[in-house]
Amino acid sequence: MKEIERLASGERLSLEEWRALIADEESYPTAVLGEMAVSVRDAIYGRRVFIRGLIEFTSYCRNDCYYCGIRRSNGRAERYRMTPEAILDTCALGYARGFRTFVLQGGEDPYWSDDILSPLIMRIKESCPEAAVTLSLGERSDESYQRLREAGADRYLLRHETADSVHYGRLHPSSMSLDNRKRCLRTLKRLGYQTGAGMMIGSPFSSVDTLAADMAFLQELSPEMVGMGPFIPHHDTPFRDERRGSVALTLRMISLVRLALPHALIPATTALATASEDGHILGFNAGANVVMPNITPEREREKYSLYDGKKITGDEDGSDLCPLFEGFRIAGYEASMERGDYL
Ligand code: 5AD
Repeated sequence: MKEIERLASGERLSLEEWRALIADEESYPTAVLGEMAVSVRDAIYGRRVFIRGLIEFTSYCRNDCYYCGIRRSNGRAERYRMTPEAILDTCALGYARGFRTFVLQGGEDPYWSDDILSPLIMRIKESCPEAAVTLSLGERSDESYQRLREAGADRYLLRHETADSVHYGRLHPSSMSLDNRKRCLRTLKRLGYQTGAGMMIGSPFSSVDTLAADMAFLQELSPEMVGMGPFIPHHDTPFRDERRGSVALTLRMISLVRLALPHALIPATTALATASEDGHILGFNAGANVVMPNITPEREREKYSLYDGKKITGDEDGSDLCPLFEGFRIAGYEASMERGDYL
């Protein structure tokens, strides 16, 4: 376990070492990695898991990622776009229910210019004092990221999806590139956003090598947040017949990210909760410490279909969080509605 000790002292590991940590289950049992990850997390954040209100405010997208249900070429996707007023109302309602982080997530919808987004962000920050605004709007120009930051946005989620450029090219059309993705992430960090990267686990053509590249990239970027979930095929995408990513590997990767980035905020994602009945708890027990209940108004929610079977009812529904939180409590975790900034 000498690699883990070196991680603890902040050292970068080689790709070879990462490959071993990812694939050699005999030397590094998943359960042992999970226990180590939990103790690292507990020492920094305790047993609190931070709750974020997720608002999927537009399902229009100019991109055509092969894995994603709201890709431009999917003519069967129902499109919607909330109005700024409706977004503001959703935040105000969430705020009254105790949410102190709002995640505004959408496809890359050109409607949302800086001139429309900036005043919206300012109004959310005014009407929800002390709440954090997290944006998840994909790739934009450096100038745009700067304007949105100046308007008051605190955090930005932009998964890198894979840090292997050949693999990146097999998941995305040639109009997109890993280089541009990295440019965006570095800009976001430079502008002072708490920045989130991350990748799907078990996406088509992924391998131990691509995951090792992901870990090396994450160590180098050192993002404040890392989102990971299993790849889940969507029936109206080119990847409809591909295999779903493994839950066990997702949990193992959560533990490795926790060990590499002890302070990171790591969600137990909706994809993980979709792939496994107790995905949230399994995620926490692997080292995760964030949950993002969907508070998108009912009308739009089911149209935001990135993958099949996406969990949208029951305890993933933001409208009654009590059963969800009670489940967390029984498993030894305390749902926290605090802002939950990076420590
Ligand atoms: N399966 C799992 N995750 C997906 N995402 C998009 N499509 C899928 C899918 N089919 C993830 C991507 C994106 C995030 C918003 O959702 O990683 O960054």
